[in-house]
Amino acid sequence: MTFSSADPAPSRQAPATADSSGKALYGGKSSRRITVHDIAAAKERGEKWPMLTAYDAMTASVFDESGIPVMLVGDSMGNCHLGYETTVPVTLDEMAMLSAAVVRGTKRALIVADLPFGSYQEGPVQALRSATRLVKDAGVGAVKLEGGERSHEQISLLVASGIPVMGHIGLTPQSVNAMGYRVQGRGEEAAQQLLRDAKAVQDAGAFAVVLELVPGELAAEVTRSLHIPTVGIGAGPTTDAQVLVYTDMVGLTPGRVPRFTKQYANLRETLGGAARAFAEEVVGGTFPQEEHTFH
Ligand code: KIV
Repeated sequence: MTFSSADPAPSRQAPATADSSGKALYGGKSSRRITVHDIAAAKERGEKWPMLTAYDAMTASVFDESGIPVMLVGDSMGNCHLGYETTVPVTLDEMAMLSAAVVRGTKRALIVADLPFGSYQEGPVQALRSATRLVKDAGVGAVKLEGGERSHEQISLLVASGIPVMGHIGLTPQSVNAMGYRVQGRGEEAAQQLLRDAKAVQDAGAFAVVLELVPGELAAEVTRSLHIPTVGIGAGPTTDAQVLVYTDMVGLTPGRVPRFTKQYANLRETLGGAARAFAEEVVGGTFPQEEHTFH
């Protein structure tokens, strides 16, 4: 059995009612929790949607109030939140703890949690055990895992067990030690493999698939050839959705960020400025003042 958009989404996040009323994922009026059925309906309407990563309750609540319909508790938390160099060391315990925080901080967004490296590669049963923990303990509405043809069995079992799955192909950062960080799908053979991977993810029953760091023309071809939505990051403008790592998007990430990302704010400067202003007032004796003092 595979998941279809007619089946109920069995997560504790939301009642499993399909949204057939044409409500937009971003900018729509509905305040109930978004489900994978809403994602399928958006694809049918040809509607584009945004996804952001989130790793804590407060930031997630800001994005939720801003109408971001899908949040990814990405294993990018490794480099963006936990101070690791890559996503590889992230554990299932860390993923469960931060996913639960993001679920608690949100009311409307569909929350998708990454299965960390080492939590599903052994096979479908290990994948089911890990995903079940994220759905039951953290309360996420879906999980994401990396790999196309190689992850077909894992995706199939999760979907058959009632866990919605987002696939992830192209550059798969958990394989950085083998793959490096470079554009995927260049050349005829690699392009054909990416198309096969995309089909494998869809055939296994995934509700969406991330395309990371692939040529724009190839992402367009994959998007045309699938009936599930594609979520692009470094994959050009034609995918159904776009995802950004939020620390890149708000200018918190130190140093160089990848060319495909866009910085919409400079929080590093804003936070640094606030910290320096506070420190100077403490050192200069101008904080706290009378209005901050109890008597
Ligand atoms: O972990 C993550 O943030 C991701 C996105 C880059 C899609 O997988």
